[in-house]
Amino acid sequence: MTFRTLQDADLKGKTALVRVDFNVPMENGQVQDDTRLCAALPTIELLSKAGAKVVLLAHFDRPKGKRVPEMSLKPVLDPLSALVRKPVAWADDCIGDPARNVISAMKPGDVALLENLRYHAGEEKNDPAFAQELAKLGDIYVNDAFSAAHRAHASTESVARLLPAYPGLSMERELNALNAALGNPQRPVLGIVGGSKVSTKLDLLKNLVTKLDKLAIGGGMANTFLYAQGHDVGASYCEKDLAETAREIIRLAGQSKCELLLPIDIVVAEQMAAGAPTRVRGLGNVDDHERILDAGPETVARLKRAMAHSKTLIWNGPLGVFEIPPFDKGTVEAAKEAARLAKEGKLVAVAGGGDTVSAMHHAGVAQDLTFISTAGGAFLEWMEGKVLPGVEALKV
Ligand code: 3PG
Repeated sequence: MTFRTLQDADLKGKTALVRVDFNVPMENGQVQDDTRLCAALPTIELLSKAGAKVVLLAHFDRPKGKRVPEMSLKPVLDPLSALVRKPVAWADDCIGDPARNVISAMKPGDVALLENLRYHAGEEKNDPAFAQELAKLGDIYVNDAFSAAHRAHASTESVARLLPAYPGLSMERELNALNAALGNPQRPVLGIVGGSKVSTKLDLLKNLVTKLDKLAIGGGMANTFLYAQGHDVGASYCEKDLAETAREIIRLAGQSKCELLLPIDIVVAEQMAAGAPTRVRGLGNVDDHERILDAGPETVARLKRAMAHSKTLIWNGPLGVFEIPPFDKGTVEAAKEAARLAKEGKLVAVAGGGDTVSAMHHAGVAQDLTFISTAGGAFLEWMEGKVLPGVEALKV
């Protein structure tokens, strides 16, 4: 992959249009989690220090081409100004006079945020005319929003083809980490895929078994695999209609010489409630009213051994219902081991996807893994081996 790099660019006096992902959790007009704002800071700082005008383009929620006041980006302005440590200018529209006037009043090094791109239908339609309107505002384009790169929208795709385009520093870091995990990894590579539904991760599983040396399957989706192999799963969540698909994935793994690590023991309970009494069961040894809610100790111990024998780990999805203790035990134990090995420099450990990030925070290891991707859909599509339009458009 070849990209331009901001470090080599002549930025002084330029107006840089910077696509960021400020689609942050918000309640009553208050930003609840500023991770995505913080992620944009290194790029903002680099551009600002180099004497560029920094014009931030972002979407919030899905207003579907209309001005929906509750979906304004304005509540982001104050927390962002505090993080940037100077006032960020605000434009009430992302194109036309409101945007132009704000940009012409800016001095080199100043930062501005433009209103929600998705107030215009042209954004999601990847409309060339809307992309032209955006491009007119700047001299260069920077995309620092990996988490929106799976969308072929005007601000992520078309505009990158109209101006000299650069990945931002967060985007660059994300692409390097992902390449180290799945593009060109040190082998053996181990994957962990968990979460409840096989149905949402079919493409992902099919792609991973062709790329990884070992793949551990956990969470609710493992129940579907156990059922497909003829094991009783009691009252557990299970997509029985996907049994044949699960068998196909098992066959595909065999053909690709990817060793599948399905659970060898499980933790069951009658109720999915905090503190509920649990039992460890062998496979198939589940009563009708019991539910499988976590990986068993033997399964976790085998997974830890697999980590110790691997050079790279890529992890998406928890091993059990980690939100409800004690069903967090398997996920937490495995996460701690991944973090320990990563800290000792023995394992490149990359994790990503919404639930996975929460699970790593819950286990207290988010800082210790090699890289955690906060991208949801984009991370999954990348793991599925799909082309991300927002990344493609940056290539030279
Ligand atoms: C995200 O939050 O995952 C990105 O900002 C993409 O948002 P979208 O799913 O509304 O396109």
